[in-house]
Amino acid sequence: MSAKIKVNLANQGAVISKNIYGHFSEHLGRCIYGGLFVGEESAIPNVNGMRTDVVEALKNIRVPVLRWPGGCFADEYHWEDGIGPKETRKRMVNTNWGGVVEDNSFGTHEFLELCQQIGCEPYINANVGSGTVREMAEWVEYLNSAGDSTVVKKRWANGRKDPWGVKFWGVGNENWGCGGNMRPEYYADEFRRYNTYCRNYGGNKLYRIACGPGEADLNWTETLMKIAGNHCDAITVHYYTLPTGDWSAKGSATEFDRESYYETLRRTWRMEEVIRLNLEVMDKYDPQHRVGMIVDEWGTWYDVEPGTNPGFLYQQNTMRDAMVAAINLNIFNSHADRVVMANLAQTVNVLQAVILTDGDQMIKTPTYHVFDLYKAHHDATLLPAEVECAELNGFRQVTASASVKENVITLTAANLHADQPEKVLLEIAGGEANKVTARILTGYMHARNTFEDQHAVEIAAFTDFAVTEAGIEMNLPACSVVEVTIHA
Ligand code: AHR
Repeated sequence: MSAKIKVNLANQGAVISKNIYGHFSEHLGRCIYGGLFVGEESAIPNVNGMRTDVVEALKNIRVPVLRWPGGCFADEYHWEDGIGPKETRKRMVNTNWGGVVEDNSFGTHEFLELCQQIGCEPYINANVGSGTVREMAEWVEYLNSAGDSTVVKKRWANGRKDPWGVKFWGVGNENWGCGGNMRPEYYADEFRRYNTYCRNYGGNKLYRIACGPGEADLNWTETLMKIAGNHCDAITVHYYTLPTGDWSAKGSATEFDRESYYETLRRTWRMEEVIRLNLEVMDKYDPQHRVGMIVDEWGTWYDVEPGTNPGFLYQQNTMRDAMVAAINLNIFNSHADRVVMANLAQTVNVLQAVILTDGDQMIKTPTYHVFDLYKAHHDATLLPAEVECAELNGFRQVTASASVKENVITLTAANLHADQPEKVLLEIAGGEANKVTARILTGYMHARNTFEDQHAVEIAAFTDFAVTEAGIEMNLPACSVVEVTIHA
């Protein structure tokens, strides 16, 4: 059977926030140290300690926002340990992730330098689990105030005169789990208390983000919205794709069969349900849709690569991950009216990373290339896409989303079948396809880039389509993601 995707230029949706294409970087394994930051003294080319190759790669996919310092690490992080002269910074053991020494050489100033080099907005997730209200309030002051206070003078002494004006502010992370094992009532009250003292300085208005549920824990969502919904701008949702659904035996990132491939994709499609169920609850307390949803952790989670530290969550990345990214990003786009941000876990060397490094070498994963194929959606207007296609192992074989910006329509679509190509017809009502170009990422489901074969999976021009009376007829290879650009 062939598939059909229908869009109508007269039926435009919300603007797709570019922040849906955000990333997450935690003090975990080799994400920060070795991945993003190598220090000024490193032989690896860097600017002020930030790896030049990685920064350039992230600039290319136009990373809009970066979340830091965790994750679970955030609720054990004390920001004052990471400022001032590096030699006197406090050393701690990273008890969450691998029990390694954290020397705090990457702290607040370094994170903001990294964001400035990438050209993205910082999203700071502060500590509720083991922090204090004062500590959080003073971090905001240190970052954003121009006043003549002792806290601000400390910033000046550390070499930064102007406030940074950080906007995205997370109050705790997974406080139902690693962030303090709190009950929803307790966290919601704590959110209100902490949030009260996170002040707006100058013209900078904080965008206040409350810790929402894991997956579809609707009791958490309901209680949070009831007690704290009026005090926050957005709530978070975390949903990871585990091929087996079993945390004790997640499965390998590279050694998997067809059954596991399809099960991984089926579990990824659950994101749609997770978002819908949570939005239904949010709607009860926020019918005006003032409160946004932020999926600030998503991606695949496999067993770590053999021989690596189990606490470092280092995994390879194949075309299966590219499919997972395509499904999730299309789902986020389709909810552009409510999903205001999403952050892939995690940027470099951790979980579904877009980049892997080994010493001075760097490779781009298939997931990286999906972010490249989708970048035209940033801040474009959603064109809701109706997809008619076959069912495959309990989910739709084709995933798609479309947007329009300055008369240019972008369609991103994936054929999720592991072995069979699919004919897809794109019908555009209310517009003509004057000039069409396309790019593709495709390969066998196990295909991946390695340090030995760095360009095995790459974007190529796609020409297997024809513009006909009926629309754009494409022949999508098995396991492929395309970006189609249409000048209407
Ligand atoms: O991304 C890894 C971990 O997953 C994060 O630290 C935590 O928030 C989540 O459980």
